[in-house]
Amino acid sequence: MSINYYDLSLDPSIFEKLNEYLHTVPLTDFSIRLKTEERFKNYFNCKKAILVNSGTTALYLSMLAIKQLLNKDITDNDISIIGPAYGHPAWIQAARLAGYKLQFCDVKENTLSMNPDMLINSINDTTKVVLFINKAGYIGEDLFKVKDICNKHNLFLIEDSCNALGHRYNDIYAGTIGDFGTFSFSNPKTITCGEGGLVISNRDDVNGILDDLQYEGGWYNYHRNKDKTFINMGGNFNLCPQNCFIVNEQIGLIEDYLHKQLDIYNKYVSKSISLINFGNNYKYCPSINITINKNANKMHDLYNKMNIRTLYKHYKNMSKFFTSNRYPVADRLEEEVLMLPKSFNLTDKDINAIASIYKTYNKG
Ligand SMILES: Cc1ncc(COP(=O)(O)O)c(C=O)c1O
Repeated sequence: MSINYYDLSLDPSIFEKLNEYLHTVPLTDFSIRLKTEERFKNYFNCKKAILVNSGTTALYLSMLAIKQLLNKDITDNDISIIGPAYGHPAWIQAARLAGYKLQFCDVKENTLSMNPDMLINSINDTTKVVLFINKAGYIGEDLFKVKDICNKHNLFLIEDSCNALGHRYNDIYAGTIGDFGTFSFSNPKTITCGEGGLVISNRDDVNGILDDLQYEGGWYNYHRNKDKTFINMGGNFNLCPQNCFIVNEQIGLIEDYLHKQLDIYNKYVSKSISLINFGNNYKYCPSINITINKNANKMHDLYNKMNIRTLYKHYKNMSKFFTSNRYPVADRLEEEVLMLPKSFNLTDKDINAIASIYKTYNKG
């Protein structure tokens, strides 16, 4: 028996449609990106959506856009961003590239996300941005508390919703609460195209800024709008047309993917496996299958001996590399979080095999 952590395949009908698309349009077809961006605007009911080549790029461009809104040059390095000590390192990489000073905040065990009470203590005069990761798909009251703190202290909020596409709380979608929401289409995410990302925003003042950052500082518009006398800051961060096509084909499947994720989650729980869940709202933000256990390292070794692929220490307390301050919950989660297989094609037999190893370390 061999059980993968996740399933890499897409529905074959998507490949058939992609094949047809490749034979009917030029490789440089720009219209598919514009069409897909428009669909995301409608999906989120937001003012702006740009498709870029990764979730990390989505974070980077959001941070650069904020610098422009603050009238800062990319080379100014006098402002800070606060993000969670535990989680994915992408925000740290993006913030360093964008020339921000880093500040960290501890997380909570029941959300795996930023602790709003700790956030208040971390803010100082240089802080201009808060980065909230909807860790493992979390969306709930803590995010709204963070939003209130940002409003009160006049801080920008970026929501890294890479794990939370389609997740919602009282019908409010992850990614739409902050000034910017970012998503990834790498693996394993709700929608995947291999590599890809999305920035969304509900602000009125980011329209040209995000377009320019996404594509050559407005070079394209420069030709159309002869009144422009200079080119703004930007690069070529576009999601390629073929990946836009694959993403576009999956927007209508998001709900179906979330239901499948919830089914797997429920199967684990029916076998008395204790997984993190985000309270009453868990149906609308099914977590990826995370269990927290003091013996997570031993469980991981045993699973792997049995050819069952789990992820251990996949997420780290990244603050260690940048500050001597300690974040105890982040430190503990790094040791104790174990991510169980999440393929949609897990069978009952697979789940039973996973549950029997789980019981070895969770007696009584
Ligand atoms: C929470 C989070 N943020 C950012 C990223 C980075 O996305 P990408 O790999 O598309 O750059 C990931 C990817 O796994 C993620 O899980």
